[in-house]
Amino acid sequence: MTAANREVSLGMPQLPAPAYPAEVRARLEADAKEVIARYPGSRSALLPLLHLVQSEEGYVSRTGMAFCAELLGLTTAEVTAVATFYTMYRRRPSGDYQVGVCTNTLCAVMGGDAIFDRLKEHLGVGNDETTADGKVTLEHIECNAACDFAPVVMVNWEFFDNQTPESATRLVDDLIAGRTVEPTRGAPLCTYKETARILAGFPDTRPGAVEASGGAGPASLAGLKLAKGEGASQARVVGPRGEAPRDTPPHEPSPSEHLSSHDAPQHTSASDPEHPAGPAAEEGE
Ligand code: FES
Repeated sequence: MTAANREVSLGMPQLPAPAYPAEVRARLEADAKEVIARYPGSRSALLPLLHLVQSEEGYVSRTGMAFCAELLGLTTAEVTAVATFYTMYRRRPSGDYQVGVCTNTLCAVMGGDAIFDRLKEHLGVGNDETTADGKVTLEHIECNAACDFAPVVMVNWEFFDNQTPESATRLVDDLIAGRTVEPTRGAPLCTYKETARILAGFPDTRPGAVEASGGAGPASLAGLKLAKGEGASQARVVGPRGEAPRDTPPHEPSPSEHLSSHDAPQHTSASDPEHPAGPAAEEGE
């Protein structure tokens, strides 16, 4: 699906959303009631319910939003406001596999921009567009807290670490051909609709999926180890580029050395006993 054949809104009022077929409605309603029962207030169930309706159609349709509003006692405007705020909710039909290329700063400079450009050219689609066979939707994504594996590609929110334009091209070719692909870490890959149902809070029943680990990498854990005092013998505080490591505490400038009075420590009742802080006198007292 390309930008040219997307639904175009001219700001005209739309007809009410069509209802789900009776069988679909009954099934979704039973699932929705199970989700709602987990929360003390029903409106708190909105985010998982949006994932639930997304698991039915692969996106959050107007029908899905009307369904959520009805079950939660919200207006469709309130549901729409939430569904359009979070990028994990799609607003139109998309592919079985959402291929998200992280183009946030670190991944971008490590090759994310080059990967995204290569996939655009290879797939013949732009950002947030789907291949004609309905298999792959390509999109930019923001940082997924996997920077030590940059550049990162996510497929249906599973990690494919340390990618290159070549490996990412093989990845999308495998997805389109229906070949099995294994995420670098975490649970095995499933379709976008299946992922949406798991995100709605329903158990992932695939063997080994829950046990699969998607832990942080060594670079992320280095800071945690330092904070815990582990490996401190190897730890060094290094100065700016070209400076030798510091053995002495950094110099604390006196007030006169500050570039501006705004930078200097302010007087307090402790530092200026002749003008102790206290309640301000009312005029005339
Ligand atoms: S910048 Fe890409 S995962 Fe953080």
